[in-house]
Amino acid sequence: MSDQKQAISKSLQDSMKAVSEDAAHGEPKVGVEEFMALARRFGFSDAALADMEAIARRESMGRGPYLANYYSGLKESCVQAFQRRAREVFGVKYALGLSSGTAALHSAFIAAGVSAGKEVICPAIGFYATPAAVVQSNGIPVFCDVDESLGMDPTKIEALITPRTVAIAPTHVMGSVADMGPIMEIARRHNLKVIEDTAQSCGATYRGQLTGTIGDIGIFSISAYKIVGGGEAGLLLTNDESLWARANQLSECGGLWRPDRYAPPRWDGELFNGTNYRLSELEAAVDTVQIGKVVAIRNRFNAVKRHVMERLQRFENITPQKLNDADGEVGYVLRFFPETAEISRAIVADMQAAGIESYCRPAGSPPDWHLSAYMYPITEMRGPTEDNCPFQCPIYLQRGGRARYDKSDCPVSVDLFERMVSVSLNQWLSPESCATLAEAINRVLAMHCKPSDQAPAWF
Ligand SMILES: Cc1ncc(COP(=O)(O)O)c(C=O)c1O
Repeated sequence: MSDQKQAISKSLQDSMKAVSEDAAHGEPKVGVEEFMALARRFGFSDAALADMEAIARRESMGRGPYLANYYSGLKESCVQAFQRRAREVFGVKYALGLSSGTAALHSAFIAAGVSAGKEVICPAIGFYATPAAVVQSNGIPVFCDVDESLGMDPTKIEALITPRTVAIAPTHVMGSVADMGPIMEIARRHNLKVIEDTAQSCGATYRGQLTGTIGDIGIFSISAYKIVGGGEAGLLLTNDESLWARANQLSECGGLWRPDRYAPPRWDGELFNGTNYRLSELEAAVDTVQIGKVVAIRNRFNAVKRHVMERLQRFENITPQKLNDADGEVGYVLRFFPETAEISRAIVADMQAAGIESYCRPAGSPPDWHLSAYMYPITEMRGPTEDNCPFQCPIYLQRGGRARYDKSDCPVSVDLFERMVSVSLNQWLSPESCATLAEAINRVLAMHCKPSDQAPAWF
């Protein structure tokens, strides 16, 4: 460099120092105020908040945190920590933290090859998000009736399989487990993928194996309403690298997760268009702690339910929910089916009067999107666009597909849904409280039904 150039460079460096100093003096983009906004959201008292703020203001935060998975500046971002913790807890090779359970379902169905002209068998009881994600993937949900476990009835699956079927998506309902043994056997025989929807039964096991790790992909909702949850989040698990890569493609803007980010495809077919279902760092920080509690929560709920069930009498006209694995239930509800909906309502009225937290569908209840017959966007066959794909998709029609939905398709689900009584259980109940609760349930049931040793057992 010439002397003249060097002199200019030196003088520019000196003046630019002042610019850098100004920049360094500014407040971090995310700083104490944001931290305090979070603390307020956690519900601390005003006195505690004042103490926290005083301490936080004494610390220099530098540029402050960078609240995104990428470039977090941490050795391990919160999202990465969440995924690592999920792999450890569930013993799987791949875990993907996502923005919701629905996002996890959409990513899972795309990964499994759901597309125009394909069908997925979904249970008639679960939640609308499952068949909705099939439609979002351009596939057609086909509903399978349930049995008295409220899970998909394995004896009814094969009649629904067509050349267009690519996957079965059983839901583990409200802490219980679907009958995964026969479901997996049927799926393997017909070369179908299994996507387990474990949103309502996080931590449950089937024959000793954690649900969500039995099928090809397991999905979870980590929303505030679920067994473990922060605010809104989802989780996808698999042991199959190519399924993980495809799910990642869909949820990470078509490939931004790759170490070389904007690079062309590394192999033919690596890249396809995706969307953004990224998990936020703040949510992941909470969920990393939450996911570690899964097994302890399952064990507490399971012990409480067992204590209660062991003390329940059998009654004529009361059919307990069939348990596909009593040892693996999360057990936050005790469910049974009185002979008629009228008896259910009378029992629940007396239970509530006795202080037993319980519910059933009141007479004239509004529709509920946990039952396929009421999932109107599906049953009315409305696609999101004017061409009404996937329901009227030419590819589907060409392959002989004719979507149709009728309340009479899954009669067992409709019947059980109307008669079902649910008693809420609390994981913190002592054995004495379990005994008291069981005795109270026995006494209320005895007001409506006759005890009988011949009646169906609770488990
Ligand atoms: C069975 C089932 N699947 C999927 C979901 C969707 O989860 P999210 O609300 O996190 O999108 C839910 C939520 O209630 C659910 O119950």
